[in-house]
Amino acid sequence: MVAKVSTDTDLEGMRAAGAAAASVLEMIGDHVVQGTTTEALNEICHKFIVDDLDCVPAPLNYGGGGKQMPFPKSICTSVNHVVCHGIPSPSKKLRSGDVLNIDITVIKGGYHGDTSKMFFVGEASVLARRLVKVTQECLYKGIEAVRAGATLGDIGHAIQKHAESQRFSVVREFCGHGIGKVFHDAPQVLHYGRPGTGIRLEEGMTFTIEPMINAGKRHIKILPDQWTAVTKDHKMSAQWEHTLMVTADGAEVFTLRKEEH
Ligand code: MF3
Ligand code: CO
Ligand code: CO
Repeated sequence: MVAKVSTDTDLEGMRAAGAAAASVLEMIGDHVVQGTTTEALNEICHKFIVDDLDCVPAPLNYGGGGKQMPFPKSICTSVNHVVCHGIPSPSKKLRSGDVLNIDITVIKGGYHGDTSKMFFVGEASVLARRLVKVTQECLYKGIEAVRAGATLGDIGHAIQKHAESQRFSVVREFCGHGIGKVFHDAPQVLHYGRPGTGIRLEEGMTFTIEPMINAGKRHIKILPDQWTAVTKDHKMSAQWEHTLMVTADGAEVFTLRKEEH
């Protein structure tokens, strides 16, 4: 069963969780400066999520079971050629020219809000700015393809077409996901595909769109820490993510920030 809002309680819960997650990204921006560490950012976000928002950071101790170790921190910090799931670390110091994705997932009242954005540290290269901008456009084009009656393939196609038109590539190993009371639920929302394929979207369905776009080739590998995904060619990668709900004629994005209104 795909994730779906079926009551007003669900809708209010998803709105509140989404707004809370977005507020963490708004708060952390001023702290993304040269010389700080990704662990420092993790600590600031953890305190804000727990003490100010009265939420639970969903990544902390997430996963595990089988052979995988649970995720050890409260946020994901993915720098430069890290595609996603970067683990905050006191030894990862930010330097001018770095590009960083911060991915926040909070649980509020049992509902999840999941969102990420890119930050520049100091001066960014022309390539970094172009990759980050095109990746955000990919997210928005994916969101524009959402409405009741459209298909998942319509979303993936919109994203893939834009990324590849700019000679960037789409990561295939990770996808968006249904979200609600469960963090990673059905359906899988691929960031590539063909129009008219895949399941048909229905009003109330809730999922994320979170394209990972590479400056070089699409291939990735996972580091021995079992989480950190990096590009095989060590070229830069970018990602943006929103949590949304399908409506009759579009989408309600639960994780919008003030800068996007
Ligand atoms: N927030 C990520 C997503 O967009 C998932 C992080 S899971 C973690 O789905 F365990 F790595 F934190
Ligand atoms: Co997600
Ligand atoms: Co996320």
